[in-house]
Amino acid sequence: MRTVDDLGDLRGSRVLVRSDLNVPLDGHTITDDGRIRASAPTISDLADRGAKVVVCAHLGRPNGKPAAELSLAPVAERLAEVLGRPVEFASDTVGQSAKAAVGELGEGDVALLENLRFSAGEESKDDAERGAFADELAGLADVYVGDGFGAVHRRHASVYDVPKRLPHAAGALVVAETEVLRRLTGDPQRPYVVVLGGAKVADKLGVIDNLIGSVDTLLIGGGMVFTFLRAQGHEVGSSLLEEDQLDAVRGYLEQATDKGVEIVLPVDVVAATGFAADADHEVVPVDAIPADRIGLDIGPESGRAFAEHIAKARTVFWNGPMGVFEMTPFAEGTRAVAQALTEVSGRGGLTVVGGGDSAAAVRQLGFDESAFGHISTGGGASLELLEGKPLPGLEALEDQTR
Ligand code: 3PG
Ligand code: MG
Repeated sequence: MRTVDDLGDLRGSRVLVRSDLNVPLDGHTITDDGRIRASAPTISDLADRGAKVVVCAHLGRPNGKPAAELSLAPVAERLAEVLGRPVEFASDTVGQSAKAAVGELGEGDVALLENLRFSAGEESKDDAERGAFADELAGLADVYVGDGFGAVHRRHASVYDVPKRLPHAAGALVVAETEVLRRLTGDPQRPYVVVLGGAKVADKLGVIDNLIGSVDTLLIGGGMVFTFLRAQGHEVGSSLLEEDQLDAVRGYLEQATDKGVEIVLPVDVVAATGFAADADHEVVPVDAIPADRIGLDIGPESGRAFAEHIAKARTVFWNGPMGVFEMTPFAEGTRAVAQALTEVSGRGGLTVVGGGDSAAAVRQLGFDESAFGHISTGGGASLELLEGKPLPGLEALEDQTR
């Protein structure tokens, strides 16, 4: 991939930067600005080079129609604070406001376009519809920089089609993310331990399939673990369960045994009377989850066991919280894993946290970001990269015909 350095003199050039500014919001309040801070260095660098910087990004999933609650306006405000320079916000993406904002940019100025996903063309499966939107976006700029790592797994106009239309390069965030994550798919230092959590098993099956061939130990927690526990014959009460994945999960458990990969599941869980921070809860062994209770975290004994496995590792990848960390009584499993990763980093091992939720969790639980080797801004993107899937956004950046 070409980088910004390969683009030559950018003074006075209009540079369209695709960033991933998809931050969690509570109303109009940004609850975690990690992606904005991670995107800022490329934008600042381009502005310092004298480019007219046009940033485009998505927020949430408005499905091709404008939705006031998913406006990027609050993001523009926060971006300006982080950059320490003004950000002109366009109230549309490729319309009059966008054209006017871009037209008024001077060297080193920054504009942010309204949510890309307010236009149906951005995510369209129809190449012509997507292409037409890409033409409009490309018309706003002379050069394209792909820096939205969290969206590189999407075959969207701003990610995949625009770089086919403009001279392009990868931004610093995409370069850094791919460099670190490819160390995990290459020849990681062993023992290599992967910790998977989060709600959905179905999202993780591809990566589990791929990892069984390369990891030494796979630790599983989070909502997805109940499908594993069920596959082993345990009753899981009213916990999350994906019945349709049970066969796949049984298959992985067998494959792991055949290949000598250790899959470690929790031995205890925190079982609550409901999905609420003030729900009555108790720690129970996994073979005694009461029928009317829902498992919301791994238990303390499991937290200690997971930490011991992690402590032996030279390389750790972690995606997905161990429990409902947003609620204090169910945050301890996630805290135990995060703490164990910091200790591996402290001893010189490589630790990578992937996924919006795990990244938000480490910050929310008060960990210092610098205590981890790398905190990826990509959830789905980092998993698909580890699955070995081709990523449309990276393919487009690698293609050098433009
Ligand atoms: C993310 O939050 O995972 C990225 O911003 C991509 O968003 P998406 O999953 O809605 O495509
Ligand atoms: Mg996602």
